Amino acid sequence: MTQGFTVWLTGLSGAGKTTIAIELEHELQARGVRVERLDGDTVRQGLTRDLGFSKADRDKNIERVTFVAKLLSRNGVGVIASFISPYREARDTARRETTNFIEVYVAAPVETCAARDVKGLYAKAFAGELKDFTGVNDPYEEPLSPEITLHTERETLSESVGIVLSYLEAHNLIPVIEAELSGD
Ligand code: ADX
Repeated sequence: MTQGFTVWLTGLSGAGKTTIAIELEHELQARGVRVERLDGDTVRQGLTRDLGFSKADRDKNIERVTFVAKLLSRNGVGVIASFISPYREARDTARRETTNFIEVYVAAPVETCAARDVKGLYAKAFAGELKDFTGVNDPYEEPLSPEITLHTERETLSESVGIVLSYLEAHNLIPVIEAELSGD
């Protein structure tokens, strides 16, 4: 059985975590990798629907997700977790508890995320209608030594996903596809 792993995408809302996670999931499935994707917006409708956005609640959110990622990754599943996960300590716990943890900092500047404002939340936060919004009036602790940093303001989606795939290949966590071997 191949080893499991945990690709942990952290970054501001609108940085591109979910978009990258979905594309990465497709690429891994195409290679026959068993994969499970855990995403803030969907997990918060189920497993963590009782939680809000205080530090205590965000910590609980990440703690529960870490538990799930631990069970999956130690049983050979590739986990893709995409959560703002703004606190270093909670991410470091995920690193300790899960198998082959890879911290991926999805590092778009807050101005870029706010300009995209896919969900209209930055506008609300700047208007003072949304309190505790990460990057505007709530903290985001940048990773100090992530395995990978992606710059979505200047990379294409396939470039960003390609960087993660190359890392997984280089660490023998996924099979290398033929086209890449032959240099095409
Ligand atoms: S985390 O901080 O606990 O890791 P998570 O990734 O699960 O957050 O959820 C973030 C999503 O919740 C955002 O993409 C956004 O859609 C929504 N959201 C609602 N309120 C907030 C808020 N105050 N801060 C950040 N995200 C919020």
